[in-house]
Parts: sequence; structure tokens; C-alpha cells
Amino acid sequence: MSERTEEIDTSVFGERTRNEAKQIIARYPESRSALLPMLHLVQSEQGYVSAAGIHFCAEQLGLAVAEVSAVATFYTMYKRSPCGQHLVSVCTNTMCAAMGGEEIYRELSEHLGAGHEETAGEPGTEGSITLEHAECLAACDFAPMLQVNYEYYDNQTTEKALELVKALQRGDKPAPTRGPELSDFRSAERQLAGFFDDLDSTVTGPSSATETVRGAQLAEERGWTAPGMPDDAEIPPVPDKK
Ligand code: FES
Repeated sequence: MSERTEEIDTSVFGERTRNEAKQIIARYPESRSALLPMLHLVQSEQGYVSAAGIHFCAEQLGLAVAEVSAVATFYTMYKRSPCGQHLVSVCTNTMCAAMGGEEIYRELSEHLGAGHEETAGEPGTEGSITLEHAECLAACDFAPMLQVNYEYYDNQTTEKALELVKALQRGDKPAPTRGPELSDFRSAERQLAGFFDDLDSTVTGPSSATETVRGAQLAEERGWTAPGMPDDAEIPPVPDKK
């Protein structure tokens, strides 16, 4: 079956984006390996992966539109409709849910009048917020937690989360619990594409917390070590690829 070839105008991606696409592609031995950062690059331009973005990636990487679409629709970090200035991801996976993550999500959803992957306000304008449920964000030791543009806000309560979202709507950027300063969704997407326009602001602030390393510290203090592998442990052979 032949692929449907629809004419889609990709001129929305100007010279700078095209140059940056070349820089991304040059990082890899095979151009197709550049697809994930390329999708972040188009998302940084438009706030989502549009049909034009998919065609642009296909053109630049010599891939079929269907191949790019398959990847763009598989990963939840690639958005199919325009995102707000900020993306608020509330973890509602097991640990966070047990600690109040569902209530936080419900409270924010009610306040914003927006459900999963919906946006309050005009996408891209100051104070607009896209809300989403998220699976485990690898910060269970700080449950319940949420992210704004993938930056961490640990140990949340419904009150703290609501205060944070109201501040974002006013145009403020409250500092994350750890890591770099808060920017906005599109700037975060540029970083995910590998472009750090303002390196200073990305490297200030603590990047780990006491709770994260507490287990390792306790083990060291008490002389605990993990059991080693026995010398005669059998390592199963790697099956042949047929
Ligand atoms: S369950 Fe929420 S960060 Fe792991």
C-alpha cells in the first residue's frame, strides 16, 4: 500500500530551525537517529508536533511521514495540540496517588477548568497552562510531586500546588525545589533538542536532594554492601538473532 502523499507546507520552519536541524543531524552517524531531538526542536517552535512538524522531520531525515508519525504519537512528551506557556505534569502513579496526587490533580483540574492534556488560556500566551496526568516521574521519595516544564516541585499539597499554578497564571515563575530555574515549555523543548541558549541559568541550583542519597549514606555509615555475584554465576548466553 502506498503512503498518502499530502502536500504540507513546512515553510513555517525558517532558516534558523533548518540550520539547527543540520546541527542535530550532524551529531549522529545515521540521520534517522536524530528523530527524537528533531521532534523536540519542532515542538520548541510551535509548542507541539504539528502535521508540518512531522513533514519537516521526514524531509530533513529522509524518513517516511508514517515513520515519523509513529514515533511522534508513541511518546507522551510529544504533544499533538498546542501547549500552554507551561506544562504542569501531576504524578498520579502509585506512590504519589497514595500520598495525595489524585487530589492535587483534581484540584488543579477544577481550578483550571481543564482535563488531561487540555489547556487553560490561549496556548503559548503568558499564563496559559496545559495540565496532564503523569506516570512515575522518578521522584517517589518526594511524593506527591509534580513537574512544571519537567522541573521538579517536590512534597506537594493541594494548597501548595494551587498556589504554584496561580503564580504561573499571573506570569510568575516560582523556583523549582531543585535543578535549574523555571523557563517555559518551549525553552525546555529547545534544551531537550540540545540547545542551551542561556547556560548559566541551567546550571545554577542544587541538582540532588538529601532524601535521594540518604539510603546510600546510611549504607556507607553502617558498612552495608550489596551481595556480590558468585564467581561461578552462570551468565545466560545471548540468543542468536534469526
Ligand atoms: S510515583 Fe510519583 S514520582 Fe514515582
